[in-house]
Amino acid sequence: MAYLQWSDTFSVKVKEIDDQHKTLIGMLNTLHDAHIAQKGREAQREIIFSMVNYAKTHFESEEKYMNKFNFPDYHSHKTEHEQFTLKALDLKGRVEEVGFVFTIEILDYLKNWLQNHILVTDMKYSGHFNDYGLC
Ligand code: FEO
Repeated sequence: MAYLQWSDTFSVKVKEIDDQHKTLIGMLNTLHDAHIAQKGREAQREIIFSMVNYAKTHFESEEKYMNKFNFPDYHSHKTEHEQFTLKALDLKGRVEEVGFVFTIEILDYLKNWLQNHILVTDMKYSGHFNDYGLC
């Protein structure tokens, strides 16, 4: 059983964005697997670096469409992205420190953030994007 399992409840009904969310969830699961297997700092470092970069690309995609379609909650949504990015960059920086490895508490934070953000915040643009023909 995956640490975080994709299901249709996560679907925002936009294929491009669903695929990006699946990739992010996959990266989180890979990071969790590395933690469980005690793969060490170097393996975890590579995964969190990829995840930070991919999250940036993903957030830019959503923000591009929110702008394009005049989505009313654009600014509050963007603020959530910025808060997550700051946290992820902090983790990325800490991974550079000797001896730092991911704990289950940090993984749970990432999991809960991703889950709640998709299910609550991202879900709000679903119908709006569909109305503009993005699906
Ligand atoms: Fe899918 Fe707003 O991040």
